[in-house]
Amino acid sequence: MSEPAMPELAGELTGELAWGRHYLAVEPAHFRVDYVINPFMDLADQPDPVRVREQWDALVATLRGLGAVVDVLPQRADAPDMVYAMNLGLGVRSGGERKAVLSHMRFPQRRMETDSARDWLVEHGWTTSLIGRDGVGAHFEAGDAFPFGDALVVGYGPRTEELALKHLAAELGIRVRGLRITHPGMYHLDLAFCPLDERRALVCPSALDAPSAAALLDLVPEPLVLTEEEALSTFCANSVVVGRTVVMPACPDRVRARLEAWGFEVVLVDVSEFHKGGGSIRCLTNPVDITLGRDLPLTGGAQVVLAPH
Ligand code: ARG
Repeated sequence: MSEPAMPELAGELTGELAWGRHYLAVEPAHFRVDYVINPFMDLADQPDPVRVREQWDALVATLRGLGAVVDVLPQRADAPDMVYAMNLGLGVRSGGERKAVLSHMRFPQRRMETDSARDWLVEHGWTTSLIGRDGVGAHFEAGDAFPFGDALVVGYGPRTEELALKHLAAELGIRVRGLRITHPGMYHLDLAFCPLDERRALVCPSALDAPSAAALLDLVPEPLVLTEEEALSTFCANSVVVGRTVVMPACPDRVRARLEAWGFEVVLVDVSEFHKGGGSIRCLTNPVDITLGRDLPLTGGAQVVLAPH
């Protein structure tokens, strides 16, 4: 009897992500460290405004150079962290419609960002909804949410609350897979997880409790596993992928070798000034081309799958 044909994928190209070619970013006119809401922030270590502008311009130019569209939203003067556009909300497309589930930030210092995001999105043809607001209802920060495999994968714990997962699933008619984040330095899933293509992702299991780490490693057929040290000291999971190019703030040699063996090209952009606020390349950009039925299977009803804990 002949062996069943096994797909031999190591080193071969697998399906590119269809999303990640259109981003929203916030022009950093008022970026500074005004308060401390994560372990990277230090009031004594302020970003240099000239370098901030140069680094952000270089990031936007790099993404545009790769063929991505980048829309730019102005920054509110009273919202220094608004530069981390990833956290404004989760936008999805469905047919001709564009829907954004706005974030309900854990910390009051960031809550006003949502109002500006809503106004801009509405002006640009999006309909918006909220899971909670002004501290009432579940917290949701969109840096915790990514489509991968058969679901929207959502980290909860430090920022997003478990209750938000049900609302997201119901609002969008999708399956949500919840992962419990326990690491205080990886307070958003985007510091520990980066989808690379249909089968591959950067994954830092030490951000999660053991059952959630196992669930994520089960979900990603070919994970590129990062150590805690790699994820925290280089922000390398906080990268974006445009087709087969990974735009990264830094890339350990070991990680680069694996990415290149898989057929990715690595492009580095220094955003070190933004690390002072606790965010890197992914945090500075919000993908607005995630499409229901293409990147996120429609389940016809809300489904939430949690790892046991
Ligand atoms: N200072 C911001 C905060 O703590 C950093 C946000 C980083 N953004 C991200 N998507 N991880 O909320």
